[in-house]
Amino acid sequence: MKKITDDIYWIGTKDTETKLFENMFELPFGVMYHAFFIDDEKTAVIDCVKNITEDGFISAVQERLNGRDLDYIVLNHMEPDHSLAVTRLVELYPDARILCSAKAVPMLKNFYGIEENVQAVKEGETLSLGKNTLTWVMVPMVHWPESMMTYAVEQKVLFSTDAFGGFGIFNSIFADEVTSEHRESETVRYFANIVGKVSSIIDKTLGRVLGMNLPIEVICPSHGLIWRKEGVGKIVNEYIDLSQHRTKPKITIAYSTMYGNNEQSANILFEELKKNQVDVKMYNLSETEKSFVIADIWQSEVVLLGAPAYYGGVHPKMRELLMKLEEGALMNHTVGVFGNGAWSGGGVRGIETFLKENKVDMLEKSVEIMGRPTEEDRAALIELAKDAAAALNH
Ligand code: FEO
Repeated sequence: MKKITDDIYWIGTKDTETKLFENMFELPFGVMYHAFFIDDEKTAVIDCVKNITEDGFISAVQERLNGRDLDYIVLNHMEPDHSLAVTRLVELYPDARILCSAKAVPMLKNFYGIEENVQAVKEGETLSLGKNTLTWVMVPMVHWPESMMTYAVEQKVLFSTDAFGGFGIFNSIFADEVTSEHRESETVRYFANIVGKVSSIIDKTLGRVLGMNLPIEVICPSHGLIWRKEGVGKIVNEYIDLSQHRTKPKITIAYSTMYGNNEQSANILFEELKKNQVDVKMYNLSETEKSFVIADIWQSEVVLLGAPAYYGGVHPKMRELLMKLEEGALMNHTVGVFGNGAWSGGGVRGIETFLKENKVDMLEKSVEIMGRPTEEDRAALIELAKDAAAALNH
């Protein structure tokens, strides 16, 4: 159990067992569920954890209480990875008052049958625990409609729910002690895949919360890392960049392939871009789970999407990616298209239609080849790579 500040302790858990977050996204570095205990005249737990690691959380609460009663359970967010263990807390401490947003009240009943001792709090309302005062900021759709943040006034700690979160378990829960090279990419992957769909709401909400000028010395999100001192500004800026779709001068190539012909096209593009010192990454959609691809696409100024035709449409592996990209991942990007027509084409046309419908800027000329790339096809692909490189910084 780590001390965050005077009176505030980390009682979260580290999950290395869940393979797929939301049963969709791979977790090669695991995920943490942060929860906190405020040890004051009145005692409070801020957020709960997912059931899989519930025991460590419950024993931490019991250790901190040391025979006392638990007075308050604050639930900032009802997604079960942050609320499920409330069921066990309620069994152990039936008199504890659950504080949540008004929208979370029916969800507590629907999810867990909990109706007793539930109290909706309002934005700006305060609660004294003794030395510490809590207040709340409502942040609907960061990431669910009932989401709220809790602010510990005297300690200047913001419990920010899903905002400023990330995937991963690292050598420390404190960002300023973490040495992992994966920290930033796991934050981007979390943002782009879990809350990217509501990025414009996050942007507006962060503007509103920051505009309140609350002095913030520590940010405690529900996943990722705890940010202290100058780290607070760093993660705030990272999240603002992500929510405003600020891209970097790099290119991501994402392709699907059935028998290797479209892969040959992707390789020609990749080699040409590399030869010209372009920062480029390439993904075969059958080999890399899409959350990694989406994360790179989110920050790439230019994207090249390539798929074979499949019964006159887009190959299913690319269709899966497009479904996720539809959530706004291509805002502020330029996209080029390539593909393999098999017997009568359709892959390139399908991707182009998707891009037009989603009002995405496109490179002028797509390349669709039939079968193995010929010398003429190679020349067309090199032209496409040149167009993509020229679109950087524009
Ligand atoms: Fe892990 Fe939306 O919560």
